[in-house]
Amino acid sequence: MQLLLMGPPGAGKGTQAAELVKKFDIPHISTGDMFRAAVKEGTELGKQAKACMDAGKLVPDEVTIGIVRERLAKDDCKKGFILDGFPRTVEQADALKGILDGLGLQLTRVLNIHVPAEDLIERAIGRRICKKCGATYHVKFNPTKVEGVCDDCGGELYQRKDDNEDTMKNRLAVYEASTKPLIDYYTKAGLYTEIDGRQSIEKVTNDLIGVLFSAQ
Ligand code: AP5
Ligand code: MG
Ligand code: ZN
Repeated sequence: MQLLLMGPPGAGKGTQAAELVKKFDIPHISTGDMFRAAVKEGTELGKQAKACMDAGKLVPDEVTIGIVRERLAKDDCKKGFILDGFPRTVEQADALKGILDGLGLQLTRVLNIHVPAEDLIERAIGRRICKKCGATYHVKFNPTKVEGVCDDCGGELYQRKDDNEDTMKNRLAVYEASTKPLIDYYTKAGLYTEIDGRQSIEKVTNDLIGVLFSAQ
């Protein structure tokens, strides 16, 4: 199964991808997570990505396409994968088509988690992530049992640098201008399904899995 999870910043792509990984045991490929790992390691890629991410802008297409091309060529992607946050531009979507054609693969489904803009800033600002295992929480919508401590591994929680109101406004504007056109792109390709992302995390997961079973 080759899945693409779309949705505006803070819609729940990462949260839902973690659930789908448990269910289908295929790799989760988040370009945002890959860039954050590169920033942490201090690599050349990380240096290039950091300035864009901190400003809420997109990392240049050629850089992003290059890291996805490398990742999709790895053996673990042969059993399928969940792309999260890529593609975000029509150019990236065209490149993805070329990469998949070259691997003899095609997308099974494009699932867009729809959440209205007014909910997204609250979701991002309240997000907390485990430093150790990467689990995602929310201070109000999905709190840990002990404040600041991961339920799964006991790790310390942190806040992403781009999860502030100003950067979120830029991220939302970039989504509107550059990524939203992909709704039309994948509708025309007959691959697009929209899920109501305003429901509870569990309900959104159930809807996603329901679509995938009926698509198989
Ligand atoms: P990336 O890391 O992908 O950020 P994003 O797209 O802005 O999405 P988020 O990770 O913020 O949100 P999410 O949808 O994963 O939500 P989550 O599940 O965490 O990208 C970051 C940056 O990297 C970009 O700005 C760009 O600079 C660069 N980049 C990445 N990909 C790129 C590309 N392809 N091209 C160029 N540049 C790229 O949930 C959010 C919060 O809501 C959590 O606290 C969660 O607990 C809570 N929540 C989740 N579901 C629900 C629910 N149903 N109800 C209530 N709360 C919920
Ligand atoms: Mg994410
Ligand atoms: Zn943890």
